[in-house]
Amino acid sequence: MNSIFDLNGKTALVTGASSGIGSHFAGTLADAGANVVLAARRTRHLKKRASELKHAQSEISWVKLDVTKRSSIKTAFSNAIARHGRVDIVVNNAGIGFQGNALDISAAAWNEVVDTNLNGAWLVAQQAARHMSADTGGGSIINIASILGRRVMGGVAPYAVAKAALEHLTRVLAYEWARHSIRVNAIAPGYIVTDMNRAYLESPMGEKARAKIPQKRFGRPADLDGALLLLASDASSYMTGSTIVADGGHLQSSM
Ligand code: NAI
Repeated sequence: MNSIFDLNGKTALVTGASSGIGSHFAGTLADAGANVVLAARRTRHLKKRASELKHAQSEISWVKLDVTKRSSIKTAFSNAIARHGRVDIVVNNAGIGFQGNALDISAAAWNEVVDTNLNGAWLVAQQAARHMSADTGGGSIINIASILGRRVMGGVAPYAVAKAALEHLTRVLAYEWARHSIRVNAIAPGYIVTDMNRAYLESPMGEKARAKIPQKRFGRPADLDGALLLLASDASSYMTGSTIVADGGHLQSSM
């Protein structure tokens, strides 16, 4: 079927694809016809997921990537381009959570969260844009932000700050790179059950959080597929600098 969300002939690189939302997104993009490069640090997980995704139409590969290391990012893109020719779509999904009181956070813990969730996304976007703007094809960069970048809550200071900045980075890069035909957008998910938060969401505190969501349920990675395919495909050709919130209405209530 001819669809405006069709990704045939495109190559997508997904960071943090070894688990959770990133692992799921790799399958969604492949199902839409894209060649997919799974990128993360845990190569055993990447190999396993890549072998599950062997599609007749799309080529699946994996590269080792640490988003906090510029040399690792450079090598990962070189390998992806050697294999697929180019990268048209990048999903900046790698991230780590944080739980702790703002009074007690060490500088090292703060930096680790900001390095991964903000600086890592910036370094990956910059490397991607250098390749995307090298020819006239342009590309689409999708940053995975969070509703915690918009709402204040206790115990997540560096995470919330990094995600808020990631949304602003999305707007800044969209503005600068439109001239290179690169679109930069973001998705801000609400609570999606993954390894990052399963223990919390399944606790009594998580139950209280669930009760505040207007849809009265946590999300699944598949709840983000519509936003992902919109932003990855030409269906969003006139969108750049936008953030799509997918949260079951959570931002409309108190946290
Ligand atoms: P997850 O923990 O299952 O996945 C995170 C992935 O990032 C893992 O594969 C991890 O290995 C990878 N990663 C971490 N540091 C990395 C590094 N330095 N280099 C390369 N890869 C690295 O968690 P989840 O939930 O799938 O998170 C994916 C993204 O979605 C994150 O950016 C997270 O902040 C964001 N998000 C998640 C929400 C949720 O409720 N699960 C809500 C809002 C945003």
